[in-house]
Amino acid sequence: MYRTHHCGALRQEDIGREIVLSGWVHSIRNLGSVSFIDLRDRYGITQLTFYKENPLKKQADELAREFVIQISGNVVERTSKNPKNLTGDIEVAVSKLQVLNPSLIPPFTIEDQSDGNEELRMRYRYLDIRRNPIKDKLLLRHKIALASRKYLFEIDFIEVETPMLIKSTPEGARDFVVPSRMHPGQFYALPQSPQSFKQLLMIGGIDRYFQIVKCFRDEDFRADRQPEFTQIDCEMSFVEQEDILKLFEGLIVHLFREIRGIQLPSSFPRISYEEAMQTYGSDKPERRFQMTFGMLNELVKNKGFSIFDAQELIIGIAVPGCAEYTRKQLDELTTWVKRPQIGAQTLVWVKYLPQGDFKSSVDKYFDQKDLKEWAHKLKAQAGDLLLILSGKVKETQKQLGELRLEMGRRLGLLDSEKFAPLWVVDFPLLERSENNEHYHALHHPFTAPQEKDRSLMKSTPEKVRAQAYDLVINGSEIGGGSIRIHQSELQEQLFSLLGFSKEKAYEQFGFMINAFQYGAPPHGGIAFGLDRLAAVLAAEESIRDFIAFPKNNSGRDLMIQSPSRLDTVQLEELGLQIKTAL
Ligand code: AMO
Repeated sequence: MYRTHHCGALRQEDIGREIVLSGWVHSIRNLGSVSFIDLRDRYGITQLTFYKENPLKKQADELAREFVIQISGNVVERTSKNPKNLTGDIEVAVSKLQVLNPSLIPPFTIEDQSDGNEELRMRYRYLDIRRNPIKDKLLLRHKIALASRKYLFEIDFIEVETPMLIKSTPEGARDFVVPSRMHPGQFYALPQSPQSFKQLLMIGGIDRYFQIVKCFRDEDFRADRQPEFTQIDCEMSFVEQEDILKLFEGLIVHLFREIRGIQLPSSFPRISYEEAMQTYGSDKPERRFQMTFGMLNELVKNKGFSIFDAQELIIGIAVPGCAEYTRKQLDELTTWVKRPQIGAQTLVWVKYLPQGDFKSSVDKYFDQKDLKEWAHKLKAQAGDLLLILSGKVKETQKQLGELRLEMGRRLGLLDSEKFAPLWVVDFPLLERSENNEHYHALHHPFTAPQEKDRSLMKSTPEKVRAQAYDLVINGSEIGGGSIRIHQSELQEQLFSLLGFSKEKAYEQFGFMINAFQYGAPPHGGIAFGLDRLAAVLAAEESIRDFIAFPKNNSGRDLMIQSPSRLDTVQLEELGLQIKTAL
């Protein structure tokens, strides 16, 4: 038997027991008269002792970090206890020691704070996983998956697997494709989500489906994106938007309570897409702090300040307690908003001084009375700093949204113990494509329009709102879904707005259009990003460490060295020729 206990198990009440442990050598301290070894496994660390008289001491002193060993021994009480460690009351006097496998010197320390840089740790991910911060994140992820499964099983959802080798589904990102050997020149696509299949399951009468499923999207990298990620994907029949929001609020409340012991409100606030953009400059508002936008157009135009006069939108925020900012700090903020990543033209600032008067970067054009009106509009208090951006509507909203987040960050307003969930609803169904020739679907082409906007489908399609919703927590888009179109005529109308000819629509989605003609029930669903949900629950920005073997930010797995080239034989077998010079 390799072990009677694991390395996090032994307590005061085990004193006197003969036990067997197996694990990794975490550290060795040779104090001359005694040597201590910390033995580690997934569950914790146990201290082993080898006193001078112990014939095994010499062998113990020759061990090194990360050797895998097995020991037998007697549990004894420690003279100096370590309350920080769960096994800190005891130690093991070792009577038998066996090396199960030696180890090379690890390239970085296996400690909570490692000395290894990101790249090195990615290359030796299996060693990184031995560290608590990574292991704990994988454990958290596992708990979320398990709790979600239990919750959904209990309310009649069944987990159905859908294929991984499919055909392109248009969801906004590029597909990863897989060449077919048996059909040279033809390709499978890896699913960006099981969207079509879950809808087909509804037509198949499966009624309540879910799947914890890998999805693949060839898109640009961000801290909250990976090319392969996992969704908790759900679909239901005979439901309206309200049913879905209520049911999945229940799931999220359950997960926060089970996993973090946090009680969220039983019903989440809702905000329309339009209001989110106007108030926060983002379709995923961070609501742990206020600092909402105020519109200044009417107050600032035609006062002789040509920059404002020429712009579509002038909006600002009141940053609490920052009226004391120095010239240097203001200059630095101006440079920050003008960086290409933000792209603002100018930053106008107004200090609402504690004694009640104002000082601004536009004192030449606006008097104290004007500035007081601005402050009022932005709900500022004495002591606040007003920051104002101007330009085209969408760009300016986005820029001020970024600035608001940055100020929130700088002022420490992103409290990691606070969770602010909300639903963003009433998304537009369609957006004009860049070349203005047709539209593209904001969510996906199977999303139903709102009934009250159906009459606008012909006249002003861009005004039609969708029965679509996103769940946002702390500024992160955790999930998104919609009620689907279930009548083929409406689906055809939508495809034509999206610029598909009838033939093209059939070529791409014939299987869906046909299926809709065999009694498709009204249905809708949602998918949550499991990786993002885990990151939010752990109050982390990056999803990377919640994935056991993630890709780096240029899409590479540094450990297995993928992607990699294929040899010519394999390429020929697949009927592929690589034209670019290798
Ligand atoms: P959507 O595209 O909004 O909807 O995706 C659902 C959720 O998946 C997560 N997500 C990602 N997580 C990590 N890396 C990525 N690259 C990534 N892309 C998306 C997000 C997002 O909210 N089929 C629809 C769902 C539906 O309509 O039911 C869909 O996939 O948390």
